[in-house]
Amino acid sequence: MERTLAIIKPDAVATRQVGAILQRIELAGFTLRGIRLVNLSRHDAEGFYAVHRTKPFFDSLVTFMSSGPAVVLVLEAADAIGKWRKLMGATDPAKAEAGSIRRDFGSSIEHNATHGSDAVDTAVFEVDYFFSDLECGDSVEG
Ligand code: CMP
Repeated sequence: MERTLAIIKPDAVATRQVGAILQRIELAGFTLRGIRLVNLSRHDAEGFYAVHRTKPFFDSLVTFMSSGPAVVLVLEAADAIGKWRKLMGATDPAKAEAGSIRRDFGSSIEHNATHGSDAVDTAVFEVDYFFSDLECGDSVEG
């Protein structure tokens, strides 16, 4: 079993699409290991997206991600990282596959409704950024 971090971004929370996105996640067979509503500060968003700090869209991305509440999730499944990325669709909603979350709920490459980890090492960093072992059940023995 593999875990990935998922974020329902401020655009999708503001437009009341959290329930619809969670339903797609559950219907796809993910096990929910963590869930929380967060209000990221600029500092929080800069730390989370530090790998993108040299990109031209970094400042705008940080402003957007700290503009309102977001929902952070830990999803578990076989090949959870790839499975979640497929369910989300391409980064740009205009290029995302029909029926994907970003195609259906995103409105631009920045306001693209959801985020997902892109590799095993980034998934570990991203899950740890928001969740303790206690919250994700990792501290349960036996
Ligand atoms: P996400 O999967 O959260 O990872 C980084 C985010 O940067 C990405 O989704 C997009 O929402 C955002 N972004 C904004 N502009 C661009 C761009 N030109 N190319 C790629 N990502 C962009």
